[in-house]
Amino acid sequence: MSNERDPSDTKGLTYASYLALDELLGLQRPRSDEHDELLFITIHQTYELWFKQILHEVRGAMGALAANESWRASHRLSRVRHILKIAVAQVDILETLTPLEFAAFRSRLATSSGFESAQFREIEALFGIRNARLADLLPDEKAREVVRATLQAPSLWDATIHWLSVRGCAVPSRLLTRDVSESYEGDEELQEVLLEIYRAGGEAASILEQLVDIDEGVQEWRYRHVKMVERTIGRKSGTGGSTGVEYLAASLRRSLFPDLWAIRDRM
Ligand code: HEM
Repeated sequence: MSNERDPSDTKGLTYASYLALDELLGLQRPRSDEHDELLFITIHQTYELWFKQILHEVRGAMGALAANESWRASHRLSRVRHILKIAVAQVDILETLTPLEFAAFRSRLATSSGFESAQFREIEALFGIRNARLADLLPDEKAREVVRATLQAPSLWDATIHWLSVRGCAVPSRLLTRDVSESYEGDEELQEVLLEIYRAGGEAASILEQLVDIDEGVQEWRYRHVKMVERTIGRKSGTGGSTGVEYLAASLRRSLFPDLWAIRDRM
């Protein structure tokens, strides 16, 4: 994280100045006089902050795996899992917004939508979802470039199988040299190796279970989001231009780490 300040200069530092509260609390700018719009803005901004933290932790975990510091990787992955739990729980707050309350200011959003969340697309890319079309649809050029670069780089799964290979697991070499910008759908030979890892137990099996937690956490978020959308706008199309619930429901069962699900019925 960049810090342009001199860390030894603490003169006059207060709670408010350390946290830049003047700036932070000035960033909620409703576009209507509707009471409920503040909640809508606050909750989206909170999500974006958690997205930022998830990106930081996942990149940190990947760095730790590359350095073969598995304890550190596990610690960071566990943090991601807890953040996802909060992300899911936060939907409860937004569900207190009734359809009529939302309709009172929805037109002020124009065509803006969570569909345009660059950090969400970056998270998906880090988790291995290779969908360049969604990156192309981001309105901001700089954000598009960041997401495109992430789509070209190794995913969390790539980092994990490299780490397993360094630990001596027989990961098929074609997976270690594959074009990481391509979608990965799972590999039966790797699944045999993963089964052995689970049967042996220990640290590697535990890290794989943390990935399952994360995968399930993202799916839980998708489910809670789409039900919240359905109860708030019904079958109306989205402000981002999609069919709304129908579009969102299509990704409900998308798993991030297909091998870890494929082996469940053989355990
Ligand atoms: C009343 C609240 C909300 C409604 C009605 C709503 C509605 C929608 C709809 C209809 C879409 C599909 C794209 C479109 O056509 O706009 C969408 C996508 C999305 N929304 Fe929301 N949303 C709400 C709250 C949130 C919140 C709090 C977040 C948190 C950041 C969020 C994040 C996203 C993301 C990341 C997508 C893209 C999902 C994907 O492409 O798989 N939404 N939302």
